[in-house]
Amino acid sequence: MIPVVKTIDEIRKYVKEWRGAGMSVGLVPTMGYLHEGHKSLIDRAVRENDRVVVSDFVNPTQFGPNEDLEAYPRDIERDAALCESAGAAVIFNPEPDEMYDNALTTVSVDKITKVLCGKTRPTHFAGVCTVVSKLFNIVKPDRAYFGQKDAQQLCVVRKMVKDLNFDIEIVGCPIVREEDGLAKSSRNTYLSAEERKAALCLSRSLKLGRELIAGGQDSAAAVKDAVRKEIEKEPLARVDYVEAVNADTLEEAEKTDAPLLVAVAVYIGKTRLIDNFIIE
Ligand code: PAF
Repeated sequence: MIPVVKTIDEIRKYVKEWRGAGMSVGLVPTMGYLHEGHKSLIDRAVRENDRVVVSDFVNPTQFGPNEDLEAYPRDIERDAALCESAGAAVIFNPEPDEMYDNALTTVSVDKITKVLCGKTRPTHFAGVCTVVSKLFNIVKPDRAYFGQKDAQQLCVVRKMVKDLNFDIEIVGCPIVREEDGLAKSSRNTYLSAEERKAALCLSRSLKLGRELIAGGQDSAAAVKDAVRKEIEKEPLARVDYVEAVNADTLEEAEKTDAPLLVAVAVYIGKTRLIDNFIIE
C-alpha cells in the first residue's frame, strides 16, 4: 500500500533519497477527498516525473470563519487507494500542528487576490499561498500541478512563484466534468439530488457565454449579462459573481478578446460552487 506520511522530516527523507538517485519529483497539492479531477492531475504528474508526491491536507488557514472547514469531506483511505492506482509514490498527510507550529509568517499576493473570489473570501488566498509555499519548501518539487477549475488560484500561484523565484514549473490542467457538465469538486458531495440538478446552471450558463463569443459577441458586459440571466433562471441558485477578466492580469475586460477568463461563483442552497472557461 502507498505510504501515508505524517511528518515533514519523513517526507523530506523520501525526496532526498529520490534526488540522490537523480530522479525528478512532481507535487500534486490537494485537500483530499480525491475525485477524477485530482486523478487527472496525478496521472499527468506521473507521466512527467519519476516520483510523485500527493499532499492531502485540509488547510485551515484558507477557510474563513463562517466557511466549511469542519464539514469539509475527508477520507484518507479512499484517497490512498486512488493515489496508489494512479501511480503516486507517497501521500503527505500532516496534521495542522505539524504544518503550523506557532507560525507567525504568511505569504500574500496583492491585487489579483482582491477580485473574483477574493471579494467575498478576503483571507483565502493568503492561506493558499502560505500553505503552497510551505509545501514547495518541504517537497522541493520540479513541477507542481493545479486544476484550471480554480483559475484564480492558478493565476495567483503562478504570480507567487514568479515573484518569489521558486524554481518550480507550475502546470495547469483542464477542468474535469461529470457527463452532464458539472465541474468535478469535492464540494459537490454537499448537494442534495435537487441541488445537484440545479447546479447544472453553472456549466449551462458558461456554455452559453462561450457560444456567444464564438458567434462574434465582443462585449464582455453582454456576455456577463447573458451568463447571469441564465443562472438566475434557476430558483435554487444565488449568484456570488459573474466576471469576465483578462486571464493573465485578472483585470476587468471590456472586450472578449483573448486571453479572457469568464468565471462564476454561485451558491446552490448553502454550497458555493465555482466554474469558468478561458479563451486563449
Ligand atoms: O486547490 C486546493 O485543493 C487547495 O487550495 C490547495 C492548492 C491544495 C492548497 O491547500
